[in-house]
Amino acid sequence: MAKILMVCLGNICRSPLAHGILQSKLPDSFIVDSAGTGNYHIGSPPDSRSISVAKKHGIDISTQKCRQFKVSDFDRFDIIYVMDSSNYNNVVNLARDSKDVSKVKLILEEIKTVISSEVPDPYYGDISDFEYVFNVLNEACEQIAINLKD
Ligand code: 4NP
Repeated sequence: MAKILMVCLGNICRSPLAHGILQSKLPDSFIVDSAGTGNYHIGSPPDSRSISVAKKHGIDISTQKCRQFKVSDFDRFDIIYVMDSSNYNNVVNLARDSKDVSKVKLILEEIKTVISSEVPDPYYGDISDFEYVFNVLNEACEQIAINLKD
């Protein structure tokens, strides 16, 4: 079964949502995890605004713990979804070869309905920014789950 890693900068706002949303759409046989390229929040739970937006939609992400992306994640995961082009560059800079690079994808490139393929960082925003992030990630994860279960 496929192993999917969601990556953003802090691993407290966007990637924990992507992690929880995709996990909720797949059987337990799939492995879903998340990580951040930065090291600011290692060991912390997700941002309280991500926890509350997820909870509103019936998903509990409160037990997730922030960790930093590491090179061995290229071996452990089949697909590494990043939230924006800065995350893409940070992850690809750690790739050892073209096989590693080929695993890294912008998550919103899975759907055609959004204008930008970047999930905006909601950290300095308000709850409406977190709702927007939830909605685009939900749509992308719906498509990803369909593709993975095919
Ligand atoms: P995330 O948002 O990458 O979606 O988790 C951020 C959270 C924290 C910081 C940056 C982005 N920070 O600089 O602390």
